Formats: sequence, structure tokens, C-alpha cells
Amino acid sequence: MWNRDGGRRKQWKIAVLPGDGIGPEVMAVTLRALRALAEQGGPSMELAEFPWPSHQWHREHGRTMPEDWKATLGQYDAILLGALGDPGPTSDPDRYLLPDAVSLGPLLDIRKGFDQWACERPAMLLEGAPQYLADDRARDLDMMVIRENSEGEYVGQGGRLAPGTPREVATQMEVFTRAGAERIFRHAFERAVARAAEREAGARRNRQFPLPGGGIARAQVCLITKRNALRYWGEMYTEVFEQVAAEYPAIATHHELVDAACMKFVMSPWNFDVVVASNLQGDILTDLAAVLSGGMGVAPSCNLNPADRRQPPMFEPTHGSAPDIAGRNLAGPQAMLLTAAMMLAWMGEEDSRAARAAKRLREAVEADLRVHGTIQRETTAIGDAVLAALS
Ligand code: IPM
Ligand code: MN
Repeated sequence: MWNRDGGRRKQWKIAVLPGDGIGPEVMAVTLRALRALAEQGGPSMELAEFPWPSHQWHREHGRTMPEDWKATLGQYDAILLGALGDPGPTSDPDRYLLPDAVSLGPLLDIRKGFDQWACERPAMLLEGAPQYLADDRARDLDMMVIRENSEGEYVGQGGRLAPGTPREVATQMEVFTRAGAERIFRHAFERAVARAAEREAGARRNRQFPLPGGGIARAQVCLITKRNALRYWGEMYTEVFEQVAAEYPAIATHHELVDAACMKFVMSPWNFDVVVASNLQGDILTDLAAVLSGGMGVAPSCNLNPADRRQPPMFEPTHGSAPDIAGRNLAGPQAMLLTAAMMLAWMGEEDSRAARAAKRLREAVEADLRVHGTIQRETTAIGDAVLAALS
């Protein structure tokens, strides 16, 4: 089959992992939206649902995912994940509950397994979303935190010597490579260039940042480290960042120590554009960035391998399984819907139908938020409203 753009219409294979807690609830709404988009001239998608990773699967099989999970998921173009963690409800003290490291393990296994080395978390304050900062300039927030997703503090090397004894020693290794730094920084600069082009095409308000030699840049990349205390990787990051930055003289740059960055995210988040950080520091900063943009309920996220599109990326909201409200039709599905829009935008780099669907889905979520704001509504009611906005 040929599409309007003269290319062969791709049938996208999406592995859908609803997960635990509110995951299945927000995923159900999202699948309805994706199916509606496909029917309305969107991309062709096979949406294959998997019962793992989940507590239920573990209860039945003694593990959170089948042994051949990688071969199975590797056959898909992309992975859409709801949430992992405590399945809830927290009111049930006897629920089948795994330690966090077990239930959340698949998240890290999938990121590592497909070398999804870039985690992208955009932050914008959509109209109608909760505004936690009193300063109205916070409305102009338009940033993207890019988190190094393959190494750093998350390599999982180390161990416990003499566990439980008074002489116990715990070690937790951090590993930073020049190659890993170079690829994430280059990706951050490429994203900064692309975001400036989107803004100039009218997608969002233009930005201006001062260049050191005078003049104005349309985009900026901020490097985060803790080089005053963690000097070895901090100094290597700084050197590699400066080398890559020299290839992009039209992009403004600056550096912030992670603690100062936390302060400035709150005091003046409108001064940031693209922010690039290590795995753990990026993890912490993106919870903060999510709150600046209305909270976990509206914060999308993705994990991808920008160098190799054959490695399936994983699209998952920043939020967790929210066990306190699980199973009660109370979860806001907006983060999951905006995450699905990020997936469509990624597909849209090859398939113009998907690019259009991404824009339509984002606009439908935005339109619903603008009208209903933060009033408490049922998950399915928000789904109905977003579907109505689509048609
Ligand atoms: C996230 C989460 C995970 C992370 C946890 C659950 C392992 O906090 O996606 O931000 O730290 O990466
Ligand atoms: Mn996190």
C-alpha cells in the first residue's frame, strides 16, 4: 500500500505493556485514542498487548518478564509502557507486593537491553495544568531535560561485602565514558537546533539567549554536573561538552552545578532550554521539571537510541504506578496520552501520517486541559473528552 507522500505505508508494530497500578487504566484510554487516530487517517498500527512486566505475571511465573523478553520485544518498532511498581491498592496490606528493585527492574533492563541511551523529558506549562510556581513568568517554561540513560550512576556495578555484619561494606560504582558523553551531548545540541526550528515554524514562542562573544542565540544547551565534588567525571563531561559545543557556534551554552540547577529551575525556569544531565542527576531534575510543568499527571517521557532506529525505543510517562489511587478510575491519563504523542512524533520522522497524528493528539489533550483544567474527573471521562476533541 502506498501513502499520499509516495512512500510505502508502514505498518507499525507497537508492543504495549500496561504494567501495574494505574498503568492499565491510563493505557486503556491511550489505546482508544491511538485506534481512533488510526481510523481517522493516522498511521497503521498493530498494538500488541503484553501481560508483563507485572506483579500478576510474577505471581504466576516467579519472574516479572519471560526469559526471552528481549527477543520478543525486539520484534517491535516501539514499546509503549504504562507504569511499573506497587500495584495497589495501598488499602490492601495483603496484596502481592515485590521489592521495588524487582518490580522496577524491567524498566532498567529494557533501557539497557536496547541501548536506549537518551531519555527525553520535555517540560511546558500547558494552559489549565496546575501552576505550582507563583511567578507568572513560569507560564513561559519551555524546556527539555535530556538524561544520559545508559551509564553513570545506573550501571548497577558493586555489591555488599559481609552483609548484615558490623564490618559490612557497600559499593556502588559510577561509570562515565567519553563515548557515552559525546553521543548524549551531540544529541542535546541536535535537539536544541530542532527545537529552535520548531519554534520558528510557529509551534511555540521564539526564545533568545546571549552568546558569549555578543549576539543572540535561538537555542541553548545547559550542562549539569557536580564537578566541584565529583571532579573526575565532571571534568571529563566539561571537556567533551566544550568540544561538541564548538561544532554548534550558534547555540548558547552554560553549565550549572546540579544543586544550583535545582534552585534555578524553581527561581527562573524560563531561562532554560535544553538541559543535559547524567542518569541520576537527570532523574532528580526531571521530577522537579515535571512539577514545574503541572505535575506527574502531565509529564511525558521517552527512552531512545537516536543512533539506531532499529533498536525499539520505549515511551513511558515519568510517573509511577500511583498505588494509592490504582483501580479507582481516578488517574489522569494526560501524561500517558502525551507520551503516546511523543511516540507518534518519533514515528513521524518516517511517516507523515504519524506526524500529523502526533500533533492532533497533543492538541486534543491541550484543548481538554484548557477547558476542564484540574477539576477532578474520572480517567474514562477524560478519555471520552479527548476522543471527542479528536473527532
Ligand atoms: C524514572 C524512574 C526510574 C528511574 C526508577 C523507577 C528506576 O524514577 O523513570 O524516572 O530512576 O529511572
Ligand atoms: Mn524518576
